[in-house]
Amino acid sequence: MGRSMEGIYAGFLGFSLFFFITTRTSTSVPDTITPGQSVKDGETLVSAGGSFELGFFSPGNSKNRYLGIWYKKVSTRTVVWVANRETPVSDTSGVLSINFQGILSLQNSTEGLVWSSNVSRAAQDPVAQLLDSGNLVVKDRNDDNTENFLWQGFDYPCNNFLPKMKIGRNLLTGFDMFVSSWRSPEDPAQGQYDLRMDIRGLPQLVQTKGAEVLFRGGSWNGLYFTGKPITKPNPLYSYEFFFSDKEVYYKYEMRNSSIFSRYEMQPSGVIQRYVWNERKLDWETFSTAQADQCSNYAFCGLYSSCNPLRPSPCACLGGFVPGSGAPKDGNSIDWSGGCTRRTPLHCDGDADGFLKKTGVKLPDTASSWFNRSMGLKECEEMCLRNCSCTAYASLDIGDGSGCLLWLGDLADMVEYSEGGQDLYIRIATSDPDYVQGKSKSKKMRARLVAMSAIIATGMLVLIFVLYIRKKKLRKQDGKEDVELPVFDFSIIANATNNFSSDNKLGRGGFGSVYKGTLTDGQDIAVKRLSKESGQGLEEFKNEVTLIAKLQHRNLVKLFGYCNEGDERMLIYEYMPNKSLDHFIFDQTRSKLLDWPRRMNIIDGIARGLLYLHQDSRLRIIHRDLKASNILLDNNMNPKISDFGLARMFDGNQTEAKTRRVVGTYGYMSPEYALDGHFSIKSDIFSFGVLVLEIISGNRNRGFSHPDHDHNLLGHTWRLWMEERTLELIDNSLVDKHFISEVLRCIHVALLCVQQRPEDRPNMSSMLLMLGGENSLPQPKQPGFFIERNLHHESLETNEVTITLLEAR
Ligand SMILES: *[C@@H]1O[C@H](CO)[C@@H](O)[C@H](O)[C@H]1NC(C)=O
Ligand SMILES: *[C@@H]1O[C@H](CO)[C@@H](O)[C@H](O)[C@H]1NC(C)=O
Ligand SMILES: *[C@@H]1O[C@H](CO)[C@@H](O)[C@H](O)[C@H]1NC(C)=O
Ligand SMILES: *[C@@H]1O[C@H](CO)[C@@H](O)[C@H](O)[C@H]1NC(C)=O
Ligand SMILES: *[C@@H]1O[C@H](CO)[C@@H](O)[C@H](O)[C@H]1NC(C)=O
Repeated sequence: MGRSMEGIYAGFLGFSLFFFITTRTSTSVPDTITPGQSVKDGETLVSAGGSFELGFFSPGNSKNRYLGIWYKKVSTRTVVWVANRETPVSDTSGVLSINFQGILSLQNSTEGLVWSSNVSRAAQDPVAQLLDSGNLVVKDRNDDNTENFLWQGFDYPCNNFLPKMKIGRNLLTGFDMFVSSWRSPEDPAQGQYDLRMDIRGLPQLVQTKGAEVLFRGGSWNGLYFTGKPITKPNPLYSYEFFFSDKEVYYKYEMRNSSIFSRYEMQPSGVIQRYVWNERKLDWETFSTAQADQCSNYAFCGLYSSCNPLRPSPCACLGGFVPGSGAPKDGNSIDWSGGCTRRTPLHCDGDADGFLKKTGVKLPDTASSWFNRSMGLKECEEMCLRNCSCTAYASLDIGDGSGCLLWLGDLADMVEYSEGGQDLYIRIATSDPDYVQGKSKSKKMRARLVAMSAIIATGMLVLIFVLYIRKKKLRKQDGKEDVELPVFDFSIIANATNNFSSDNKLGRGGFGSVYKGTLTDGQDIAVKRLSKESGQGLEEFKNEVTLIAKLQHRNLVKLFGYCNEGDERMLIYEYMPNKSLDHFIFDQTRSKLLDWPRRMNIIDGIARGLLYLHQDSRLRIIHRDLKASNILLDNNMNPKISDFGLARMFDGNQTEAKTRRVVGTYGYMSPEYALDGHFSIKSDIFSFGVLVLEIISGNRNRGFSHPDHDHNLLGHTWRLWMEERTLELIDNSLVDKHFISEVLRCIHVALLCVQQRPEDRPNMSSMLLMLGGENSLPQPKQPGFFIERNLHHESLETNEVTITLLEAR
């Protein structure tokens, strides 16, 4: 700016030179005027320390005269303050004077009032003085208390933000002290850009153009503005952020007042800090506020962060995916569409969690809320309790105190390689990124473990209560009406193209599944029970009643049913990503499932099962848990399906015996397959098998190995005994960060597939094991020999649920 200013004031230099000579001849230049005295065009006031000078000037080639203040000792004319910026004097007739009320006025040749100041109270013995800070003040003579100024120019900054100036607000009167650009280098009138304190939510420093925010210095975090991390103590200046009920402001001061430094906002909006270099006799640019594209407000749109060091600087926050406007590949320029939430929030404590993002510029606080006395833990709880809360952070990173909540969209985050602070972003715990974040953050994990412990304890109490009330409940349940839509056969026939083979998604032991589309565009999956399924009307009704009551995000949702003549159908939500087996056993598609996603799937299945076993009002054994019964939604969240084939436990029953064994080989526990005994522990066995399949990418059944004749369980056990468990892991899961978590999952899975049901953990203790870090018991040999001893030649494929009549 120095050079351009040189040009701007070129016209003025000649005049100044002339004036310089005249002032040198006078004995001393005053720094004050009192009533009766004046400053005429051509005369000046010079501050006592000789730093600043007040007088009339014309910017650039303009003929207009303005009353301004500039550096006296700086050879490049640099005007830092202008009184009559909107109302120039057209000739050199301007005169500044002060009256007995202490009001400054600028008059022209016809004694018209061009500009005047204001006073807050009556003056005793007023004097206008140019201080060595560049501040023109009106005060009572001999009263140097800065709080008592009748008026001061620093309350009305122009384009320069000088040491000791304030940017801020009086919260009682609303008085706004802000920096505003000149209209052009030749016109100091207020231009398009302002730099001010935005006091919506937690106050933050913003640059605006009209109502639009262009750049955000951000909120104060106790040490610095979140948008300008200060990583080292600054030897040049000190700064202060003051925030009370009455006032909020920011100011800075030079440690050495003989060094000149200032911020200037240029007519183009560029904000730069300059330091006068005495050796070069020029202003040196110290920093530029808008250093890169990431300084542009919300450059990457909502729910994303900007990192200037990345080839394409924008990236979605964890749990968010590119929105409609954002390019999928991240290469295009326009990211204004930002990102959108992948998994909707559930708004209840357990279902939502937080992903910690470190080293960032905190998002726009315009819609934030804060409390100075709350701690971070309280803050988290507060956020979870409020549905509109999207994130939280510490208010003061100096001592980690206070609570800052965001109650709206998150915008304008920047990632810093140095400095920056921690932000906790709310996402659904079922989101794949949450699982990844969990494994990255031990703190988060510890919290989860604590939460699961509380849940588990609560569960024990609940189970006990339910146990006692079960008979009563069951009676009531029988009477309750199921509020589930009944679909006409014709509607379903229409939706599935008359059950055409093109619409057929698959076939199981109980019938076929079809994809359908209702007339309103809703996709459905129709399970048409085969007439030979052996299920009577009563059983079907029981089953529908049972499923209708099950509501959990990891269970596939039943929309309705159809029961016409001997047609019995269940209508489910349609899962576009098909089932888990479609991915994990496929060489190409398995690459789409990295470990965090797989862990999310394991976690989701476990939660779904926990609900079936313990959380729902009924105790339900699924009996047919397998990869093809785990459906995946758009975001790869698992949903257990076919739980309609499950059994509800009677009264105080914890295990049952059946003559009709339903299930799938490879997943069936030995006691069930051989003796027809089933219990929650037979589901646990199936879950263990499933986990090993997810980790290894191999089916338990049909597994083959050159060295031995075992199935996957046998193979895992061998590796375990030989301490070569790592070899089990699917090649697509090479990320070393997760190895310990994967090994822990294998360990837990082996505990699940132990031969004796009583050795296997139940669902809640298993969730604790999966999320925890405590040492686990040694697994005993799995029950894996059964399938080789059974006759299964007659079965269609490995994948079909079979019914063995008279298995004993
Ligand atoms: C003096 O200022 C008054 C008020 O702004 C204005 O009406 C008048 O035209 C000015 N006279 C001259 C000579 O500039
Ligand atoms: C002086 O201040 C009063 C009250 O604060 C305000 O109404 C008035 O417009 C001000 N006058 C000038 C010339 O700024
Ligand atoms: C302040 O800065 C001036 C000019 O650079 C220098 O001469 C002086 O020694 C400094 N004073 C202190 C106390 O550092
Ligand atoms: C801030 O938090 C403290 C401690 O939790 C509480 O006593 C106080 O009422 C809160 N203030 C507001 C305005 O909510
Ligand atoms: C969320 O918190 C804000 C700020 O305390 C409050 O205004 C709002 O009503 C709360 N919303 C709910 C749903 O509690």
